[in-house]
Amino acid sequence: MRFVLALLATATIALAAATPADAFDDGLARTPPMGWSSWNRFGCDIGEQTVRETADALVVGGMRDAGYRYVNVDDCWMAPTRDAFGRLRADPWRFPGGIPALADYVHARGLRLGLYTSIGARTCQGRPGLAGHESGDLARIASWGADYLKVDFCGANGAVRGDPAPAYARVRDLIGQSGRKLVLGICTWGQGLPWRWGPRIGHMWRVTGDIRPEWRWVLKIAGRNDLRARHAGPGGWNDPDSLEVGNRGMTVREQRAHFGLWALMAAPLIAGNDVRHMSRVTRRILLNRELIAVDQDRLGSQGHRVRRGLHEVWIKRLAGRARAVLLLNRGRRTAVLRFGIGRARRVRDLWRHRWRSSARTLRVRVRGHAAAMFRVP
Ligand code: GLA
Repeated sequence: MRFVLALLATATIALAAATPADAFDDGLARTPPMGWSSWNRFGCDIGEQTVRETADALVVGGMRDAGYRYVNVDDCWMAPTRDAFGRLRADPWRFPGGIPALADYVHARGLRLGLYTSIGARTCQGRPGLAGHESGDLARIASWGADYLKVDFCGANGAVRGDPAPAYARVRDLIGQSGRKLVLGICTWGQGLPWRWGPRIGHMWRVTGDIRPEWRWVLKIAGRNDLRARHAGPGGWNDPDSLEVGNRGMTVREQRAHFGLWALMAAPLIAGNDVRHMSRVTRRILLNRELIAVDQDRLGSQGHRVRRGLHEVWIKRLAGRARAVLLLNRGRRTAVLRFGIGRARRVRDLWRHRWRSSARTLRVRVRGHAAAMFRVP
């Protein structure tokens, strides 16, 4: 009896220690997934040549080695119709070599392949979706060698809209039966409160509608994502959508702030630009190893906003009792932002890559529409 009680006590402590308590952690996403997705830059204009060249560029440009592993083909990879047996197939014009060959190509370079589908009968671009074909499609996608699957919300009928969790749980179970391990990206745009059930079902879940390469929009998404911070942790992550770094629409400072916020929020870092043709500035943002380390910190704590307004302070707890601090100037004018660092005496500037000594209150000039970022210590 005493033994049983001791066992129970240990089990309770173990459960209490897991963050968050209801996450299932199969080891696939202990830290936020990193990679690239076709959607933001290419939309439907995607084909196997671009995907292959992207895979090569990730390797040659050092992004793979910095952690960007998933090469995700978003909507439009599938043919507009199923074959005579009702089977899903790749678009023969865009992917003439087929998905298995593409998976081999990607795997041979130490990368992983991501695919896309939707919970309804049609994807957002009108291609065949899962509804009515769940077991066949998921078995096929797994057998082709995919490593990641984003499941969108287009075509969800009334029942699914009421509570998407059972439909997504079924996807999880069918993937489980396939015998292949896939990262499951849930994409209900925040509908059905996915942060509540996502940790039990998938590895990441979108918290909002689609990102746009606009400063105000990026800040809006960050604010929404912040509300869900406590639901993220090793195994499952809030997803504020893939990155707009390197795409048109934001200044360099705005793009740096965007990347910094995503890292501070332990968001999946999925590049959304054309990595085959990147400026040095874009490359420096995406390859900022100190920021990637903040995102990928093993504690897996999503940082959050501690001071709101025109000038904001965001903090993320890091392993080893360190913290990352982001000082955000949402306004147009340069401002001096302040933050108390206790007895640390110095901070690491994560954009300038150097230590800087500091009084108990760190004072930093931050230009308009920009963010400074530090680690203490
Ligand atoms: C939805 C998703 C996007 C993208 C498109 C593709 O809008 O939210 O991320 O996948 O569909 O059609």
